[in-house]
Amino acid sequence: MKDSLHAVLQSSARRLRSAGLESAHLDAELLLRKSVACSSKEILLNPERTLTLQQIAQNEGFLRRRLQREPVAYILGTREFWSLEFKVTPDVLIPRPETEHLIEQVLQVVEGLPENRPIHLLDVGTGSGIIAISAAKEIARLKATAVDVSGEALQIAKENARSNGVEDRIEFRKSDLFRDLSPNETFDVIASNPPYIARSDIRNLMPDVKDFEPLQALDGGEDGLEIIRAMSRQVPKHLRPGGTLLIEFGEGQGPDIMKVFQEHIAFDGLRLLKDYSDKDRILIAERRDRG
Ligand SMILES: C[S@@+](CC[C@H](N)C(=O)[O-])C[C@H]1O[C@@H](n2cnc3c(N)ncnc32)[C@H](O)[C@@H]1O
Repeated sequence: MKDSLHAVLQSSARRLRSAGLESAHLDAELLLRKSVACSSKEILLNPERTLTLQQIAQNEGFLRRRLQREPVAYILGTREFWSLEFKVTPDVLIPRPETEHLIEQVLQVVEGLPENRPIHLLDVGTGSGIIAISAAKEIARLKATAVDVSGEALQIAKENARSNGVEDRIEFRKSDLFRDLSPNETFDVIASNPPYIARSDIRNLMPDVKDFEPLQALDGGEDGLEIIRAMSRQVPKHLRPGGTLLIEFGEGQGPDIMKVFQEHIAFDGLRLLKDYSDKDRILIAERRDRG
């Protein structure tokens, strides 16, 4: 039967594969599940179930978008991160699995803080809100401030905080890095996955990324480190003595980022952590108790 779940899945996967999409089968399955509103189990158990004309048309529309390289997360409108569901639109970066490693490190840092008081976290460049929201879900005593220059991204982040039930513990604010925080606002933990791609490298990214994800979320200036350098200058004012900064960065940037932070006497305990593919991925810096 050519309009059965099985047949449509196979032919969709074939079309995506011949267009050179590596994750063709998974993409085809996710789009089909969305079109038919069914689970992967249902596709397995009822492969001969026929699609309605409306479902066929919807699936075809999704497939065409994917063939134009639009990321599946934007077509579906959601992405799972830290086992939570996040709304995503082209106004926000699609959450990446590497950033879960940053959340793990944030949790470890918070575990080391005194237990009898609230913890204040600042998420710089919050995008869809994943860092502040995932941390707030895990740590009941955590209050977060989440900033972004993009008002559109902040709207999505707010919706995600609401749908994940933590909106009462996160304050979202439009700010160019720390500019719109008051000078005496300080945090126990500052975490960020900033834009870190060198401007000239953006044109070499996959079309799925460069043609669809927001440039503002990718562009780290001439050498990719401009935002991180600006953060290094502003963080000391907003991190409590003994507080911790955690920054995610791109492949190969570790040594340069270490240099940026070594120049600042405000930081101590500088170290780089590797991701699951054994590549340097996170900088951790502690604010000295004094100075
Ligand atoms: C790489 S994305 C990360 C988004 C999200 N935190 C995540 O991990 O998926 C970087 C985010 O930083 C924001 N951004 C870029 N420049 C900024 C600036 N000067 N101040 C505040 N946010 C900025 C972008 O709008 C984008 O949402």
